[in-house]
Amino acid sequence: MEFKECLDKYANIVNKELLKYTTLEEVPEKDLDKAVSYALISNAKRLRPILILATYNLFREDNEKCFPYMVAIEMIHNFSLIHDDLPGIDNDDFRHGKPTLHKIYNESTAILTGDRLLNYAYIVLINNLAIDDRDRDIKIRAIKELTNATDRMIIGEYIDTEYEGKPISNDYLEYMHRNKTGALLKAAVRIGAILAECPEEDLGRLTRYAESIGLAFQIKDDILSEIGTEEELGKPVGNDREKGKCTYVTKYGLDNAKNMLHEEIKKAISEINIFGDKAMFLIELAHYIENRKK
Ligand code: IPE
Ligand code: IPE
Ligand code: MG
Ligand code: MG
Repeated sequence: MEFKECLDKYANIVNKELLKYTTLEEVPEKDLDKAVSYALISNAKRLRPILILATYNLFREDNEKCFPYMVAIEMIHNFSLIHDDLPGIDNDDFRHGKPTLHKIYNESTAILTGDRLLNYAYIVLINNLAIDDRDRDIKIRAIKELTNATDRMIIGEYIDTEYEGKPISNDYLEYMHRNKTGALLKAAVRIGAILAECPEEDLGRLTRYAESIGLAFQIKDDILSEIGTEEELGKPVGNDREKGKCTYVTKYGLDNAKNMLHEEIKKAISEINIFGDKAMFLIELAHYIENRKK
């Protein structure tokens, strides 16, 4: 199967699972439910859940085991985006090609919808554990990956806001990127590997792959914020510079940022070449991260 076809196949699996949660609970507060659907049904890339499943598929094929984790990580990712777009953080009006949640509803609804998605992710995981506690230790290890990564993501977001308009060292910029974006991407790969009970040596290789694509993904996000198009991205461009954000482009210049991105992608691929043909999708995914336009 061609890479693009495979990517679409994975995204369809994610979208089908997410649809089951678009009305979280039948509550009289209809707008709160509608806001959850508004956030979850979109043309998002679904990269984090795709990484869980694709990594799992290096070792195993019984995909259902991954589903709760795939839903949970996408809920947490969307919580982070809703809050990231709020006036108190990035103050952006577009996401996924449509008005951001606080623009459609209001700020308090956006804050609470984000809170709800974050909490609901854990409801999904705890319910799964309660219904079926086979492989309990493995599941708890996977949940710990997600909870810790979510904390790192929030810490990264904090650094991003605190350093707006201020100088930041090279190391701290990298640290910020590894946290705000890298942590969840790394957790996705590790969760797939942990659920598949792969050898620790392979977990090490996949972790290093994930660290590189995690950093690369945010470098590319910085680049797209300069030279992407709003139409393709579905979110604003030029906003990082406007707000005085420190990014790989403002720090190193566009060409250097592109070279650093390329080096990180090469590093990522070198870690998983050893898996051979089985890793073709993850290798192609690394190239996709480098070349993506959205
Ligand atoms: C956007 O992530 C926010 C960052 C962490 C850079 P994605 O590009 O993966 O978000 P989707 O695909 O729009 O959900
Ligand atoms: C997003 O960072 C990271 C998280 C939401 C955790 P950015 O603010 O750089 O991403 P976009 O460009 O708004 O998607
Ligand atoms: Mg931000
Ligand atoms: Mg933002």
